[in-house]
Amino acid sequence: MTDTPNDRESPVGRSIDELDTPVALLDLDVFDSNAATIHRKLADGGLQWRPHSKAHKSPVLARRQLELGAIGVTCAKLGEAEVMAAGGIADILVANLLGSPAKWRRAADLQSTATVTVCVDDQQHVRWASAAAVQAGTVIPLLVEVDVGMHRVGVRSSDDAVALAEQIAATPGVELAGVMGYEGHLPTIWPAAEKVAQCEQALSVLTDAATAIRAAGHQVRLVSSGGTATFESAFGVDGLNESQAGGGCLMDRFYAETCHIDLPFALTLTATTVSVQQSAVAIIDAGFKALGTPANMQPALVLDREGVAVKALSAEHGILATEGSPLRVGDRVRLVPAYSDAMVYLHENLVGHRGGVVTEMIPVAGRGKLA
Ligand SMILES: Cc1ncc(COP(=O)(O)O)c(C=O)c1O
Repeated sequence: MTDTPNDRESPVGRSIDELDTPVALLDLDVFDSNAATIHRKLADGGLQWRPHSKAHKSPVLARRQLELGAIGVTCAKLGEAEVMAAGGIADILVANLLGSPAKWRRAADLQSTATVTVCVDDQQHVRWASAAAVQAGTVIPLLVEVDVGMHRVGVRSSDDAVALAEQIAATPGVELAGVMGYEGHLPTIWPAAEKVAQCEQALSVLTDAATAIRAAGHQVRLVSSGGTATFESAFGVDGLNESQAGGGCLMDRFYAETCHIDLPFALTLTATTVSVQQSAVAIIDAGFKALGTPANMQPALVLDREGVAVKALSAEHGILATEGSPLRVGDRVRLVPAYSDAMVYLHENLVGHRGGVVTEMIPVAGRGKLA
């Protein structure tokens, strides 16, 4: 029997309508079809798929994505990569920089379980990586991270990318695997033609860096970029070969309404009405500790109830405006999170279901692995 936060008996085989709330639900048929759609579009665009797993943090779902065409996974944190490696994922990209010798020692040790490629944008990263790898008797594959306009991290020019590539090539214990850049300043650009123009301009900075490194005599195997909200806008850029689009398998209100991504919702949260305050205000048992919701985003979206909307969230309560259809105490409400990234990590498990019948509990094994 599996202990879950909602139910001390395994809910497998039961209807999702019987589960105690709040409960995070993942429709696995929709997850599979979203994954298949993303993979097919990428394959048509000539790209391989290495989905970012920062939203689901689950080796179970990563393995499902591999079955549906992914070649590996992307992680935001080294701790998440350790969870993925322990869960049997053999090819992992940490799309991030590691800022201490201790982290590079963990990255070196992890190479005995999986191929774990890590980003660098500074000579210090390469020195730390080398020292750790030589000591562990291994080789760490590195990607030079290039700033493609987000101005978060990454080298700021092709010359700097070449210089770092040269250092990697001349350093023991590390190998140059390629380059990566994330166009994270562009997901909300609209209309579509403008998003395409800006993605093409941004990602040509990445492919130019790859070209310059090759011209200096080095192999560039991976040219990795892309997210759910932008991958389709970059198919015109020659020279990209991997995409990190991931969260679209779950979907959420941000991707759908702000980024104009046309995929169905796989991730939902069911809550229960616990109080009716006035005729047009109802309180549910899910607040920001169950739904997440970054301050700058639209709140969770209420499904199937016309005229009902989230007005505000406190920690454990959601305040709904119910002008359209009054709710009674005990009524269940289905919501789509504002942003899947901000919801999933609050839950120990996602309850996987097909056709409304629970099929499996999916541990969010990477939650809390922030280091
Ligand atoms: C490095 C990196 N790659 C890709 C993505 C896109 O991920 P997703 O497809 O889940 O939106 C992000 C989003 O923050 C990111 O930081």
